[in-house]
Amino acid sequence: MGGQDVTDSRNAPEASDMTIHDSANPMRPSLSIIVPTYEEADSLPPLFARIGDLHDSGLSLEVIVVDDDSRDGTEQAMRNLALPWARLITRRGQRGLSSAVLTGLRAARGDTMIVMDADLSHPPEAIPAMVAALDQGADFVVGSRYVPGGSTEDGWGVLRWINSKVATVMARPFTTVKDCMSGFLGFRADAWQRAVDLDPVGYKIGLELIVKCQCRNVVEVPIHFSTRQHGESKLTLKVQIQYLDHVLRLLRWKHPKWSSFVPFALIGLSGIGVYAGLLAIFGALLDGLLSTDLQVILAIALTIGWNFLWDRWLAFWYARGDSIWRQFIGFMAVCAVPVAINYFVTTWLVDDRMIAPAAGAIGALIGSAAGVVFNWFVARAIVFRRRSSS
Ligand code: GDD
Ligand code: MN
Repeated sequence: MGGQDVTDSRNAPEASDMTIHDSANPMRPSLSIIVPTYEEADSLPPLFARIGDLHDSGLSLEVIVVDDDSRDGTEQAMRNLALPWARLITRRGQRGLSSAVLTGLRAARGDTMIVMDADLSHPPEAIPAMVAALDQGADFVVGSRYVPGGSTEDGWGVLRWINSKVATVMARPFTTVKDCMSGFLGFRADAWQRAVDLDPVGYKIGLELIVKCQCRNVVEVPIHFSTRQHGESKLTLKVQIQYLDHVLRLLRWKHPKWSSFVPFALIGLSGIGVYAGLLAIFGALLDGLLSTDLQVILAIALTIGWNFLWDRWLAFWYARGDSIWRQFIGFMAVCAVPVAINYFVTTWLVDDRMIAPAAGAIGALIGSAAGVVFNWFVARAIVFRRRSSS
């Protein structure tokens, strides 16, 4: 029964890389449960036994398993279960928990969405309480380990625990939700469609949705988080690095000006060190070969290059797609202003005040301070422009 391949037009952009094993149940359920899987074949029978209890108790639901072509018997397991309210979507050539969840959400037909892991870490029995919280006015619900009544099964190694804590603390600037790392989520169908700029990198689709759907009333329903019985965790080092990238993206999304200016100022500060270091090196190595003026010019040019490359990468990340040469010429023109200030302050101090030894440093300092603010504004406005769409 079931298992015939049906191409679903709702997924047109992806349709060529995936198969929907649709049991063609004509009834529209009120609840859609999305379960992303990668190599979870052994967990599916016990998972569906427990969700089946909810179904049998009268909850109108469908389950959408989104599998990234595990080839571990997942398709066979779903065929054996032959549940008219369960669908399997097999994605090919694409991996990733968050994007799998979005694929599932796009195919879902219910008014209410629940997202959960396949490995039974998330108890299906908590779903009615999560749905009830939504019915009572919550915009978003999270199955939470960190509210009273919630817990985590013993046996988490120190490392995994520290890992989870550090990740949670890093998300604090974006949300006050205690268990914002949870992948056990609930919301109404329109909430994720309302979310702006969804950028599903890595694991933390919950954090992404909480931050970007502008949900105000997030409710945490306590759960007991169980240790998986079958298979292995997919939380690899790569996934953890993706999380750092995710946090950076959220920071840039939420505070675009500060996350541009702060790296810009720090890079500017590093430029002072580079400039002083180069002058010292040139003084020691090139003294007979290059005049002092040329040494200064060379040091300035290299420092501008240093600042340009770092700024382009870290402070003006959004303009990396634009022509680097056009940007470099613009950047040099912008830099000419603080360089000139630097030069005049230095010579003025040398000529009129006779405090030559400190003059270089003072000139550099005043030039840099004025330069950082000026340069940032002008560079942003002229050299590294934001394209209107992003
Ligand atoms: N389709 C798809 N593609 N599914 C995936 C992928 C992928 O690339 N990677 C993982 N999954 C599925 C797994 O099969 C499982 O059902 C679920 O996503 C969670 O993966 P685990 O490997 O079990 O994650 P975990 O136990 O380390 O992380 C859990 O705890 C976190 C909080 O500490 C998950 O619940 C996370 O959602 C949660 O944030
Ligand atoms: Mn797990």
